[in-house]
Amino acid sequence: MNLIENLKWRYATKAYNNIKVTEEKVDQILEAINLSASSCGLQSYRIFVVSNPEIQKKLGADSYNGQISSCSHLLVFAALTDMSPTYIDDYMTMTEKQRGLDAGALSGFRNGLHSYFSTINAEQKAHWAAKQAYIALGTALIAAAELKVDATPIEGFNAANIDAVLGLKEKGLHSTVILALGYRDSEKDYMAATKKVRLPIDEMITKVY
Ligand SMILES: Cc1cc2nc3c(=O)[nH]c(=O)nc-3n(C[C@H](O)[C@H](O)[C@H](O)COP(=O)(O)O)c2cc1C
Repeated sequence: MNLIENLKWRYATKAYNNIKVTEEKVDQILEAINLSASSCGLQSYRIFVVSNPEIQKKLGADSYNGQISSCSHLLVFAALTDMSPTYIDDYMTMTEKQRGLDAGALSGFRNGLHSYFSTINAEQKAHWAAKQAYIALGTALIAAAELKVDATPIEGFNAANIDAVLGLKEKGLHSTVILALGYRDSEKDYMAATKKVRLPIDEMITKVY
């Protein structure tokens, strides 16, 4: 399967050259993200795409990950800080419209969501939202590999700094994880020729048939 070959090809790139990823490929990765599964389908995160050396430099301040400033495009996965009743209502209304349903057709689902989110605290809601963003991160990694675009998932960044530079707090969002996209600089990147390490498949997987 080509997918497996592409997943073997990908690795968390440490050094990027200065070749830009085409907008067409970036858009395909972004569309893959938008097609990700998410709990209850609520897509509780937004993506910010940055391709501007000055802004990338600011986003990478205080981070040991030079990829933030040297990559072609940086994707910031920003989770909703609050799963508010308004957000849920708007999402249900959008779902009814896109599926051609009568207004209120999803009121049972809507009420169930209101009820669930009223039982968990603010920290739990933010955590729930962030978990969905990580699923999108996984989708983006696979999409990038399929397009032979290099990528680095990054947790080593100053979230308060990124939130401030992109004005995320004011938008009810907070950065959870980021993804650098670009093309590997095989000469500068010691990881480019380093063997991928994974568990033996039978240690990872238990089949119960
Ligand atoms: C959520 C997450 C956060 C990560 N944070 C960083 C990071 O801050 N810097 C970095 O160079 N790599 C980071 N990585 C890359 C991992 O170290 C890498 O995926 C792992 O060692 C497996 O290697 P491979 O992806 O090259 O196959 C992160 C990976 C994930 C999934």
